[in-house]
Amino acid sequence: MQDRAGFREFVRQLPKAELHLHLEGTLEPELMLALAERNGMPLPFPDVAAARAAYAFDDLQSFLDLYYAGAAVLQTEQDFYDLTRAYTVRAAQENIRHIEPFFDPQTHISRGIPFGIAIAGILLALEDAQEDFGITSRLIMCFLRDLSADDAMHTLQTAKLYHSRIAGVGLDSAEVGNPPEKFVTVFEEAGMLGFHRVAHAGEEGPASYITDSLDMLGVERIDHGVRCLEDPGVVARLVRERIPLTVCPLSNVKLRVFPEMAEHPLRRMLDAGLLVTINSDDPAYFGGYLTDNYVAVADALDLTPVDAVTLARNSFEASFLETQEKDAYLAEIDAFIAGS
Ligand code: HPA
Ligand code: ZN
Repeated sequence: MQDRAGFREFVRQLPKAELHLHLEGTLEPELMLALAERNGMPLPFPDVAAARAAYAFDDLQSFLDLYYAGAAVLQTEQDFYDLTRAYTVRAAQENIRHIEPFFDPQTHISRGIPFGIAIAGILLALEDAQEDFGITSRLIMCFLRDLSADDAMHTLQTAKLYHSRIAGVGLDSAEVGNPPEKFVTVFEEAGMLGFHRVAHAGEEGPASYITDSLDMLGVERIDHGVRCLEDPGVVARLVRERIPLTVCPLSNVKLRVFPEMAEHPLRRMLDAGLLVTINSDDPAYFGGYLTDNYVAVADALDLTPVDAVTLARNSFEASFLETQEKDAYLAEIDAFIAGS
């Protein structure tokens, strides 16, 4: 495993789960332009090169502005199917065995696309991924935290119709100024309905948003959470309670949470005993899929194959799979290591 290509191939074949992946963030410029054309919409960019050139962000908000504009090309059930299918085809090529993807229903409802259209296309593609590639999944719907709590509650009521097909709820979009406490009632209701609960916290927001998400929203997992290191008390608690963190290294550098990968705290987080996982967040926008994230961290922070195996194990452990399913995937990792 001395060379970089060897490490990449090792990670590509390593059985892995992806737990922090926005389906709308997998919209590659090629598909964005094709869907705009198919739907008779004005092209958001003159060509693929122009789209990629526009993907230079200063912070979370500058990314979100572009991301929501891009999502506007998603109009029909087939569009949502094609989006999700393109991602699962790539996931299969990287031996991603289990996924817990996010989608943002409010992004589509606010454009006049009903909840049922978006979720129908996504669910069909997830079923096909299971059938064609053996990829298991648990779908998570996220509330946009810059919209009102009433809007989120309304979306939750609609989601009840799809209760058996949605595993959990999450919280994404602009973090600063939209603290966890804004969504206490919504998450309480989601918990009573039996949904798993997660939230983005400690990406651009402070470490206290992590603790507040645990205490006020009852979340089982923190998305990002990288700013926990600013408060040793928060780190100690996350370690003690084995709260998983879904870390997205390429995203963090693109959105300037850290100026460069060499300053990314992933290595320190592992050393602190945190239950860290690596994920790709919005791979079409941030320059890489799951294996690319592992490789980028390895290049900058001397991540070893042993570390990669730890991270892959963590990804299953942190998932919402049943114990038996987790054990089966962990055994796949053991078999892969034994054979490599
Ligand atoms: N943070 C917040 N909201 C998001 C993100 C993110 O990284 N990606 C898509 N929506
Ligand atoms: Zn995210």
